[in-house]
Amino acid sequence: MDEQLTYSFVKVTEAAAIASYDHLGQGHKNKADLAAVDAMRYELNQMNIDGRIVIGEGEIDEAPMLYIGELLGQGGTALDIAVDPIDGTRMVATGQDNAITVLAATPKDQMLAAPDMYMEKLVVSPQAKGVIDLERPLITNLRDIARALFKPINQLRIVTLAKPRHQKMINELRDHGVQIFEYPDGDVIASLQTCLPYGPFDVMYCIGGAPEGVISAAAVKALGGEMQGRLLLRSQVKGKNEQNLSHDSIELEQCKKYGAQLGKVYSMNELICSQDILFCATGITDGHINTGIKKTDRTISCESLLIDGCGNVRLIRNTKLLPPNANRSVKPVHLKSTA
Ligand code: FBP
Repeated sequence: MDEQLTYSFVKVTEAAAIASYDHLGQGHKNKADLAAVDAMRYELNQMNIDGRIVIGEGEIDEAPMLYIGELLGQGGTALDIAVDPIDGTRMVATGQDNAITVLAATPKDQMLAAPDMYMEKLVVSPQAKGVIDLERPLITNLRDIARALFKPINQLRIVTLAKPRHQKMINELRDHGVQIFEYPDGDVIASLQTCLPYGPFDVMYCIGGAPEGVISAAAVKALGGEMQGRLLLRSQVKGKNEQNLSHDSIELEQCKKYGAQLGKVYSMNELICSQDILFCATGITDGHINTGIKKTDRTISCESLLIDGCGNVRLIRNTKLLPPNANRSVKPVHLKSTA
């Protein structure tokens, strides 16, 4: 992907982050998501690309989405695009750290068209590449990873999501002395922190969204790490009640429609086939990989992490000057002097 095109994607995630910023702490996940989706769609449509959304996000929690198969752009390079307009909608709605807006792109037909369902994910840093296999128990993987990293297992640093479905696994691994770090949300950030050269973790394991899984795979591959993912039905993840079982049938239909296989362990090269990768994430709130939007009367600043398949990891800080009175929505009231 040429450099100019790469940089123009930064504008897309910047615009989405800025648009969602106004919804910070207002308790409305979907309003924040919609603002980010609209901004992303607008900016993608300005680009000289023949873009196609392969991974959209939102069906798991019925949020607004850039829908799968949507065509975007003014014409040009044919690209497949995976978007997550907000990873951490709850964090935006409740004004907490670690919310980002994120996308990944590859040349056409080089990305797994995963439906919006759950995925079991295992990510390792570049130093432990080549030893993971999701078909084997997690503890066996961890022993092999520890061996590859020349560490005892109690020095492994694993990051996961703090979800009830993970509690048994967390307790069992802690019994083996493994250090586990639990994030409330956001496995894209957790995967990045596992593979970035200055990242604090050796392993990311969780069951989270498949869209986030494919987007993470783009960054993991570009950074030289390794990832495997397995699609799971909602009832396998959240229990076999009537609602979840009826949702399963929608997910099964979607798998059929997009040619994705339930239960298959996808290798990183099946999740993302090309090395021609673009990954971009802009911070909405302050987080572990970049700072969030900062607004003053005269400026708005954002920070984006841009990673490409040629080994470039760029942190781009953009401070835009706002036109005078841009933040003033109400005319100033002039009080009459009583003197
Ligand atoms: P959203 O902001 O899109 O809801 O995603 C946040 C997130 O934590 C993802 O990072 C993760 O993959 C997914 O939710 C896990 O799903 P769930 O919240 O249903 O456990």
